[in-house]
Amino acid sequence: MIPMVDLRRQYLQLKEEIDEAVAGVLDATQFILGPNVSALEAEVARYHGLPHAVGVANGTDALLLALRALGIGAGDAVITTPFTFIATAEVVSLVGALPVFVDVDPKTFNINPAAIERALTKKTKAIIPVHLFGQPCDMDPLLAVAARNDLKVIEDCAQSFGARYKGRLVGTLGDAGCFSFFPSKNLACYGDGGMVITRDVETDKTLRMLRNHGSSVRYHHHLLGYNSRLDEIQAAIVRVKLKRIDAFNESRRRAADLYRNTIRRKDIALPFEMAGCHHVYHQFTILSNGRDRLQEELLRADVASAVYYPVPLHRQEVFLGSRSRSGDLPVSDDLAARVLSLPMFPEITEEEIRRISDVINGSA
Ligand SMILES: Cc1ncc(COP(=O)(O)O)c(C=O)c1O
Repeated sequence: MIPMVDLRRQYLQLKEEIDEAVAGVLDATQFILGPNVSALEAEVARYHGLPHAVGVANGTDALLLALRALGIGAGDAVITTPFTFIATAEVVSLVGALPVFVDVDPKTFNINPAAIERALTKKTKAIIPVHLFGQPCDMDPLLAVAARNDLKVIEDCAQSFGARYKGRLVGTLGDAGCFSFFPSKNLACYGDGGMVITRDVETDKTLRMLRNHGSSVRYHHHLLGYNSRLDEIQAAIVRVKLKRIDAFNESRRRAADLYRNTIRRKDIALPFEMAGCHHVYHQFTILSNGRDRLQEELLRADVASAVYYPVPLHRQEVFLGSRSRSGDLPVSDDLAARVLSLPMFPEITEEEIRRISDVINGSA
Protein backbone atom coordinates (compact mmCIF):
# COMPACT_ATOMS: atom_id res chain seq x y z
CA MET A 1 0.00 0.00 0.00
CA ILE A 2 1.26 3.52 -0.77
CA PRO A 3 0.16 5.38 2.38
CA MET A 4 -0.97 9.02 2.68
CA VAL A 5 2.09 9.65 4.86
CA ASP A 6 4.96 7.33 5.76
CA LEU A 7 6.50 8.70 8.96
CA ARG A 8 8.84 5.77 9.30
CA ARG A 9 10.93 6.72 6.24
CA GLN A 10 11.76 10.10 7.70
CA TYR A 11 12.44 8.66 11.13
CA LEU A 12 14.91 6.15 9.66
CA GLN A 13 16.73 8.97 7.83
CA LEU A 14 17.02 11.05 11.01
CA LYS A 15 17.18 8.19 13.50
CA GLU A 16 20.63 8.82 14.90
CA GLU A 17 20.00 12.50 15.55
CA ILE A 18 16.48 12.04 16.89
CA ASP A 19 17.44 9.15 19.17
CA GLU A 20 20.30 11.24 20.53
CA ALA A 21 18.03 14.24 21.11
CA VAL A 22 15.46 12.12 22.97
CA ALA A 23 18.18 10.36 24.99
CA GLY A 24 19.52 13.80 25.95
CA VAL A 25 16.15 14.75 27.45
CA LEU A 26 15.86 11.44 29.31
CA ASP A 27 19.35 11.95 30.67
CA ALA A 28 18.65 15.52 31.79
CA THR A 29 15.29 14.42 33.30
CA GLN A 30 13.78 17.84 32.79
CA PHE A 31 10.60 17.08 30.91
CA ILE A 32 8.37 20.16 30.86
CA LEU A 33 9.34 23.69 29.71
CA GLY A 34 13.07 23.04 29.76
CA PRO A 35 16.03 24.08 27.58
CA ASN A 36 14.77 22.41 24.39
CA VAL A 37 11.46 24.29 24.56
CA SER A 38 13.28 27.62 25.07
CA ALA A 39 15.74 26.83 22.27
CA LEU A 40 12.96 25.78 19.89
CA GLU A 41 11.03 28.96 20.69
CA ALA A 42 14.11 31.04 19.86
CA GLU A 43 14.75 29.06 16.66
CA VAL A 44 11.15 29.29 15.41
CA ALA A 45 11.07 33.02 16.22
CA ARG A 46 14.37 33.52 14.32
CA TYR A 47 13.12 31.48 11.34
CA HIS A 48 10.16 33.87 11.09
CA GLY A 49 12.08 37.05 11.90
CA LEU A 50 9.74 37.73 14.84
CA PRO A 51 10.70 38.43 18.46
CA HIS A 52 8.37 35.91 20.15
CA ALA A 53 7.36 32.26 19.91
CA VAL A 54 5.55 30.33 22.65
CA GLY A 55 5.44 26.54 22.76
CA VAL A 56 2.08 25.01 23.72
CA ALA A 57 0.57 21.54 23.99
CA ASN A 58 -0.95 21.30 20.49
CA GLY A 59 -2.21 23.33 17.52
CA THR A 60 -5.74 23.58 18.88
CA ASP A 61 -4.43 25.18 22.07
CA ALA A 62 -2.23 27.50 19.99
CA LEU A 63 -5.44 28.92 18.47
CA LEU A 64 -7.35 28.87 21.77
CA LEU A 65 -4.63 30.66 23.72
CA ALA A 66 -4.10 33.18 20.89
CA LEU A 67 -7.81 34.08 20.98
CA ARG A 68 -7.66 34.48 24.77
CA ALA A 69 -4.43 36.49 24.64
CA LEU A 70 -5.94 38.85 22.06
CA GLY A 71 -8.98 39.43 24.25
CA ILE A 72 -11.61 37.56 22.22
CA GLY A 73 -14.41 36.13 24.36
CA ALA A 74 -18.10 36.10 25.22
CA GLY A 75 -20.30 38.24 22.96
CA ASP A 76 -17.68 38.54 20.19
CA ALA A 77 -17.96 37.15 16.68
CA VAL A 78 -15.05 35.63 14.78
CA ILE A 79 -15.10 35.15 11.01
CA THR A 80 -13.51 32.02 9.62
CA THR A 81 -13.72 29.38 6.91
CA PRO A 82 -15.98 26.32 7.06
CA PHE A 83 -13.58 24.35 4.87
CA THR A 84 -11.02 23.35 7.51
CA PHE A 85 -10.45 20.99 10.42
CA ILE A 86 -12.89 21.41 13.32
CA ALA A 87 -10.22 22.87 15.65
CA THR A 88 -10.19 26.20 13.78
CA ALA A 89 -13.78 27.02 14.83
CA GLU A 90 -14.07 24.83 17.94
CA VAL A 91 -11.77 27.22 19.80
CA VAL A 92 -13.97 30.20 18.92
CA SER A 93 -16.91 28.58 20.68
CA LEU A 94 -14.71 27.43 23.56
CA VAL A 95 -13.78 31.05 24.40
CA GLY A 96 -17.52 31.92 24.34
CA ALA A 97 -17.51 33.72 20.97
CA LEU A 98 -19.63 33.03 17.86
CA PRO A 99 -18.00 31.40 14.81
CA VAL A 100 -19.22 33.07 11.61
CA PHE A 101 -18.54 31.00 8.51
CA VAL A 102 -17.98 32.64 5.13
CA ASP A 103 -17.37 30.88 1.84
CA VAL A 104 -14.04 30.01 0.28
CA ASP A 105 -12.42 30.64 -3.07
CA PRO A 106 -13.07 27.72 -5.46
CA LYS A 107 -9.48 27.68 -6.71
CA THR A 108 -7.42 28.11 -3.53
CA PHE A 109 -9.98 26.51 -1.15
CA ASN A 110 -9.11 29.37 1.24
CA ILE A 111 -11.35 32.03 2.80
CA ASN A 112 -12.72 34.53 0.29
CA PRO A 113 -11.76 38.08 1.43
CA ALA A 114 -14.78 39.64 -0.35
CA ALA A 115 -17.12 37.39 1.66
CA ILE A 116 -15.54 38.57 4.92
CA GLU A 117 -16.57 42.15 4.26
CA ARG A 118 -20.20 41.09 3.78
CA ALA A 119 -20.29 39.14 7.05
CA LEU A 120 -19.09 41.94 9.34
CA THR A 121 -21.29 43.07 12.24
CA LYS A 122 -20.64 45.29 15.25
CA LYS A 123 -19.68 42.17 17.18
CA THR A 124 -16.94 41.04 14.79
CA LYS A 125 -13.60 41.14 16.60
CA ALA A 126 -11.32 38.81 14.67
CA ILE A 127 -10.68 36.76 11.53
CA ILE A 128 -9.06 33.33 11.51
CA PRO A 129 -7.71 32.61 8.03
CA VAL A 130 -6.46 29.05 7.49
CA HIS A 131 -3.61 28.48 5.04
CA LEU A 132 -5.19 25.19 4.01
CA PHE A 133 -3.18 22.28 2.60
CA GLY A 134 -0.03 24.48 2.63
CA GLN A 135 -1.37 27.24 0.34
CA PRO A 136 -1.30 30.80 1.75
CA CYS A 137 -4.57 32.72 1.90
CA ASP A 138 -4.87 35.90 -0.12
CA MET A 139 -3.74 38.01 2.84
CA ASP A 140 -3.49 41.57 1.45
CA PRO A 141 -7.25 42.12 0.97
CA LEU A 142 -7.96 40.24 4.21
CA LEU A 143 -5.52 42.40 6.17
CA ALA A 144 -7.05 45.51 4.60
CA VAL A 145 -10.55 44.52 5.82
CA ALA A 146 -9.07 43.81 9.26
CA ALA A 147 -7.28 47.18 9.40
CA ARG A 148 -10.38 49.11 8.28
CA ASN A 149 -12.52 47.43 10.95
CA ASP A 150 -10.02 47.10 13.77
CA LEU A 151 -10.09 43.29 13.76
CA LYS A 152 -7.45 40.91 15.09
CA VAL A 153 -6.05 38.39 12.63
CA ILE A 154 -5.08 34.95 13.95
CA GLU A 155 -3.46 32.84 11.25
CA ASP A 156 -4.07 29.09 11.40
CA CYS A 157 -0.76 27.81 10.03
CA ALA A 158 -1.23 24.21 11.23
CA GLN A 159 -0.72 22.95 7.66
CA SER A 160 1.68 25.54 6.32
CA PHE A 161 4.95 25.94 8.21
CA GLY A 162 7.37 27.66 5.80
CA ALA A 163 4.76 28.74 3.21
CA ARG A 164 5.15 32.30 1.90
CA TYR A 165 2.69 34.94 0.72
CA LYS A 166 4.40 37.42 -1.62
CA GLY A 167 7.73 36.56 -0.01
CA ARG A 168 6.46 36.85 3.58
CA LEU A 169 6.20 33.77 5.79
CA VAL A 170 2.70 32.79 6.88
CA GLY A 171 2.21 33.37 10.59
CA THR A 172 4.02 36.72 10.42
CA LEU A 173 1.22 38.61 8.67
CA GLY A 174 -1.43 38.85 11.39
CA ASP A 175 -1.44 39.40 15.16
CA ALA A 176 -0.59 35.78 15.93
CA GLY A 177 0.46 32.73 13.88
CA CYS A 178 -0.56 29.32 15.22
CA PHE A 179 1.22 26.06 14.38
CA SER A 180 0.58 22.38 15.06
CA PHE A 181 3.38 19.83 15.37
CA PHE A 182 1.01 16.85 15.09
CA PRO A 183 3.01 13.91 13.64
CA SER A 184 1.68 14.22 10.07
CA LYS A 185 2.23 17.99 9.77
CA ASN A 186 4.97 19.55 7.59
CA LEU A 187 6.98 20.26 10.74
CA ALA A 188 6.11 17.63 13.29
CA CYS A 189 6.92 15.89 16.53
CA TYR A 190 6.11 12.37 17.73
CA GLY A 191 3.11 13.24 19.86
CA ASP A 192 1.20 16.49 20.28
CA GLY A 193 2.77 19.93 20.15
CA GLY A 194 2.11 23.46 18.97
CA MET A 195 3.40 27.03 18.91
CA VAL A 196 2.20 30.62 18.65
CA ILE A 197 4.37 33.34 17.10
CA THR A 198 3.76 37.06 17.55
CA ARG A 199 5.52 40.41 17.24
CA ASP A 200 3.74 41.81 20.31
CA VAL A 201 5.44 41.57 23.69
CA GLU A 202 2.18 41.77 25.68
CA THR A 203 0.63 38.95 23.66
CA ASP A 204 3.76 36.89 24.30
CA LYS A 205 3.56 37.55 28.06
CA THR A 206 -0.13 36.62 28.24
CA LEU A 207 0.42 33.45 26.19
CA ARG A 208 3.19 32.37 28.56
CA MET A 209 0.87 32.81 31.53
CA LEU A 210 -2.12 31.16 29.86
CA ARG A 211 -0.19 28.00 28.98
CA ASN A 212 0.87 27.58 32.60
CA HIS A 213 -2.30 28.01 34.70
CA GLY A 214 -2.31 31.80 34.34
CA SER A 215 0.93 32.07 36.26
CA SER A 216 4.23 33.85 35.67
CA VAL A 217 5.59 33.35 39.19
CA ARG A 218 5.16 29.87 40.63
CA TYR A 219 1.98 29.48 42.70
CA HIS A 220 0.85 33.05 41.88
CA HIS A 221 -2.03 33.03 39.40
CA HIS A 222 -3.15 36.17 37.56
CA LEU A 223 -5.47 34.68 34.94
CA LEU A 224 -7.60 31.60 34.48
CA GLY A 225 -5.27 29.57 32.34
CA TYR A 226 -4.64 26.05 31.10
CA ASN A 227 -2.15 23.25 31.38
CA SER A 228 -0.89 23.65 27.83
CA ARG A 229 2.86 23.25 27.89
CA LEU A 230 5.05 21.82 25.17
CA ASP A 231 7.15 18.98 26.52
CA GLU A 232 10.91 18.65 26.18
CA ILE A 233 10.94 15.39 24.21
CA GLN A 234 8.64 16.82 21.54
CA ALA A 235 10.60 20.10 21.40
CA ALA A 236 13.89 18.19 21.01
CA ILE A 237 12.40 16.23 18.07
CA VAL A 238 11.01 19.34 16.36
CA ARG A 239 14.44 21.02 16.68
CA VAL A 240 16.02 18.21 14.63
CA LYS A 241 13.39 18.58 11.92
CA LEU A 242 13.32 22.40 11.92
CA LYS A 243 16.86 22.41 10.48
CA ARG A 244 15.48 20.57 7.43
CA ILE A 245 12.06 22.19 7.05
CA ASP A 246 12.88 24.10 3.87
CA ALA A 247 14.35 20.96 2.27
CA PHE A 248 11.28 18.93 3.32
CA ASN A 249 8.99 21.54 1.80
CA GLU A 250 11.06 21.59 -1.42
CA SER A 251 10.68 17.80 -1.66
CA ARG A 252 6.91 18.21 -1.30
CA ARG A 253 6.94 20.82 -4.07
CA ARG A 254 8.95 18.48 -6.34
CA ALA A 255 6.46 15.68 -5.66
CA ALA A 256 3.61 18.10 -6.52
CA ASP A 257 5.35 19.01 -9.81
CA LEU A 258 5.66 15.36 -10.70
CA TYR A 259 1.97 14.75 -10.00
CA ARG A 260 1.16 17.74 -12.23
CA ASN A 261 3.32 16.40 -15.05
CA THR A 262 1.98 12.86 -14.88
CA ILE A 263 -1.77 13.21 -14.19
CA ARG A 264 -3.21 13.67 -17.67
CA ARG A 265 -6.96 13.59 -17.15
CA LYS A 266 -8.72 16.74 -18.28
CA ASP A 267 -11.71 16.06 -16.01
CA ILE A 268 -9.54 16.30 -12.89
CA ALA A 269 -8.59 19.71 -11.49
CA LEU A 270 -5.07 19.87 -10.08
CA PRO A 271 -4.18 22.14 -7.12
CA PHE A 272 -4.03 25.81 -8.01
CA GLU A 273 -0.99 27.81 -6.92
CA MET A 274 -1.72 31.47 -6.34
CA ALA A 275 0.73 33.77 -8.17
CA GLY A 276 3.48 35.08 -5.89
CA CYS A 277 2.86 32.37 -3.30
CA HIS A 278 5.06 29.55 -2.11
CA HIS A 279 2.71 26.59 -1.52
CA VAL A 280 4.22 23.87 0.71
CA TYR A 281 1.80 21.05 -0.15
CA HIS A 282 0.82 19.70 3.21
CA GLN A 283 -1.70 17.97 0.95
CA PHE A 284 -1.91 17.46 -2.80
CA THR A 285 -5.66 17.76 -3.31
CA ILE A 286 -7.41 17.21 -6.63
CA LEU A 287 -11.06 17.76 -7.62
CA SER A 288 -13.06 15.06 -9.37
CA ASN A 289 -16.77 14.71 -10.12
CA GLY A 290 -16.30 10.96 -9.76
CA ARG A 291 -14.38 11.28 -6.49
CA ASP A 292 -15.82 8.26 -4.69
CA ARG A 293 -15.27 5.92 -7.64
CA LEU A 294 -11.73 7.22 -8.12
CA GLN A 295 -11.01 6.63 -4.44
CA GLU A 296 -12.23 3.03 -4.74
CA GLU A 297 -10.05 2.41 -7.78
CA LEU A 298 -7.01 3.79 -6.00
CA LEU A 299 -7.73 1.52 -3.05
CA ARG A 300 -8.04 -1.50 -5.34
CA ALA A 301 -4.58 -0.60 -6.69
CA ASP A 302 -3.19 -0.37 -3.14
CA VAL A 303 -2.99 3.42 -3.06
CA ALA A 304 -4.33 5.36 -0.08
CA SER A 305 -6.26 8.62 -0.54
CA ALA A 306 -8.31 10.77 1.81
CA VAL A 307 -11.18 13.24 1.83
CA TYR A 308 -10.28 16.43 3.69
CA TYR A 309 -12.99 17.43 4.54
CA PRO A 310 -16.23 15.55 3.82
CA VAL A 311 -18.50 17.77 5.97
CA PRO A 312 -17.86 21.53 6.04
CA LEU A 313 -18.10 23.06 9.50
CA HIS A 314 -21.38 24.93 8.89
CA ARG A 315 -23.01 21.50 8.45
CA GLN A 316 -21.49 19.90 11.55
CA GLU A 317 -24.00 18.99 14.23
CA VAL A 318 -22.07 20.91 16.86
CA PHE A 319 -22.45 24.15 14.89
CA LEU A 320 -26.13 23.86 13.96
CA GLY A 321 -28.74 26.16 15.47
CA SER A 322 -27.53 29.25 17.26
CA ARG A 323 -24.00 28.01 17.87
CA SER A 324 -22.65 29.58 14.68
CA ARG A 325 -23.74 31.87 11.86
CA SER A 326 -23.48 31.31 8.11
CA GLY A 327 -25.41 31.97 4.93
CA ASP A 328 -25.38 29.59 1.99
CA LEU A 329 -21.84 28.41 1.36
CA PRO A 330 -22.09 26.69 -2.02
CA VAL A 331 -18.37 26.62 -2.80
CA SER A 332 -17.54 24.82 0.45
CA ASP A 333 -20.38 22.35 -0.13
CA ASP A 334 -19.16 21.66 -3.66
CA LEU A 335 -15.54 21.16 -2.56
CA ALA A 336 -16.59 18.74 0.18
CA ALA A 337 -18.23 16.58 -2.50
CA ARG A 338 -15.28 16.61 -4.94
CA VAL A 339 -11.93 16.88 -3.09
CA LEU A 340 -9.51 13.99 -2.91
CA SER A 341 -6.07 14.19 -1.33
CA LEU A 342 -3.33 11.92 -2.69
CA PRO A 343 -0.29 10.53 -0.85
CA MET A 344 2.14 13.36 -0.06
CA PHE A 345 5.24 13.39 2.12
CA PRO A 346 8.82 14.55 1.51
CA GLU A 347 10.14 11.00 1.05
CA ILE A 348 7.56 9.79 -1.49
CA THR A 349 9.43 8.41 -4.52
CA GLU A 350 9.14 9.26 -8.20
CA GLU A 351 8.17 5.66 -8.86
CA GLU A 352 5.32 5.84 -6.37
CA ILE A 353 3.95 9.05 -7.86
CA ARG A 354 4.14 7.61 -11.38
CA ARG A 355 2.27 4.54 -10.19
CA ILE A 356 -0.46 6.66 -8.55
CA SER A 357 -0.81 8.82 -11.66
CA ASP A 358 -1.04 5.70 -13.86
CA VAL A 359 -3.93 4.41 -11.75
CA ILE A 360 -5.69 7.78 -12.01
CA ASN A 361 -5.10 8.07 -15.78
CA GLY A 362 -6.20 4.49 -16.36
CA SER A 363 -9.41 4.83 -14.40
CA ALA A 364 -11.02 7.39 -16.75
C1 LIG B 1 -6.13 23.57 9.98
C2 LIG B 1 -5.86 22.98 11.33
N1 LIG B 1 -6.04 23.74 12.42
C3 LIG B 1 -5.79 23.28 13.65
C4 LIG B 1 -5.34 22.00 13.86
C5 LIG B 1 -5.15 21.52 15.27
O1 LIG B 1 -3.88 21.06 15.56
P1 LIG B 1 -3.66 19.93 16.68
O2 LIG B 1 -4.13 18.63 16.13
O3 LIG B 1 -2.19 19.96 16.92
O4 LIG B 1 -4.42 20.33 17.89
C6 LIG B 1 -5.11 21.17 12.74
C7 LIG B 1 -4.56 19.80 12.85
O5 LIG B 1 -4.92 18.88 13.42
C8 LIG B 1 -5.39 21.67 11.46
O6 LIG B 1 -5.21 20.91 10.37
